[in-house]
Amino acid sequence: MPEATHGLSADIDRLRTEAIEKLAALTTASNAAEWEKHYLGGKGAVTALLRGLGKLPADERPAAGRATQALRDELTGAFAPVKDRLDAEALQQELAGDAIDVTLPGRVPAIGAAHPIAQMTDEVIEIFALMGFQAVFGPEVETGRYNFDLLNIPSDHPARDVWDTIIVDTPNEEIVLRTHTSPMQARTMEKIEPPVRVIVPGKTFRYEAQDASHEWQFTQLEGLAVDKHITMADLKGVLQELARQLFGPERKVRFRCDFFPFVEPGVDFSVDCSVCNGKGCRVCKYTGWLEMGGAGMVHPNVLRGVGYDPDVYSGFAFGLGIERLIMMKYGVDDIRAFASNDIRFLRRFASVTI
Ligand code: PHE
Repeated sequence: MPEATHGLSADIDRLRTEAIEKLAALTTASNAAEWEKHYLGGKGAVTALLRGLGKLPADERPAAGRATQALRDELTGAFAPVKDRLDAEALQQELAGDAIDVTLPGRVPAIGAAHPIAQMTDEVIEIFALMGFQAVFGPEVETGRYNFDLLNIPSDHPARDVWDTIIVDTPNEEIVLRTHTSPMQARTMEKIEPPVRVIVPGKTFRYEAQDASHEWQFTQLEGLAVDKHITMADLKGVLQELARQLFGPERKVRFRCDFFPFVEPGVDFSVDCSVCNGKGCRVCKYTGWLEMGGAGMVHPNVLRGVGYDPDVYSGFAFGLGIERLIMMKYGVDDIRAFASNDIRFLRRFASVTI
């Protein structure tokens, strides 16, 4: 063989040895891609050899060409199984990385809970349902007629000032945010004939400075029963039952004179403190009693206003603060907590904790 061809075959041998050695050492699919590019690629070492063939004397080219081609075939053949193996390994690894472990416990979704006001509302609705009272709901934006006039509070009556009213508009008559749930007394009686037994839970609004026991928006529960022969004893019995159900079987209620234009006689009613059993503590401000709200016998003018005959029918009404009930039952000492959106406060009332 001529010198030049000897040189070429030595190059081929060297390249083969080096390529096979490196091929054996490949461990990853991306290394394999580099190897392929370096030895077999368009700008790779074997291609370079083939290109160099042109420089050989014409009679040497065929043999050198075959030898180079043989190297190319040999390396291509040796590379294929290595590439397959490394590609398969890479795939395995990728699959293992993405695998879903079906035995892992699921992520617990953040579950909310009913607000304490909603919980207490549900609780009182249930207690009153067992006593035959139906829950009804009324508008939060009211007319002066229902919020005041039909409750025996004419517009020139000084008692109108007792409810610090948020007035929305005065087109022909006053449009107000209801200052209490009592407007539902007339709205209900206008629609049905006695016997009436309803409760009205709902939001109420007053133009008031906020402090630990006052909110400008709060929640009331109205109660109304009208029938023949309804007396103060019925009122007392119903409220006594409410107090027992909410605060325990030992509870007593107390009525004291109070004035509301739509009841006669009018009272405020308290329950003896369930925290200290009436002995006096921080929650009841050391009086032994907790005030729940106002009540009384429906005023004849209110019955007359809705077309009921006060000589035939009588009734009682009461109104109490839902927040106040929660505060008494759980010893909450600041009414502002309810609208604070403080998750630590709300979690105290969450039966399902997050
Ligand atoms: N509506 C009265 C208030 O908000 C409470 C009340 C209701 C009093 C029914 C007597 C009868 O102050």
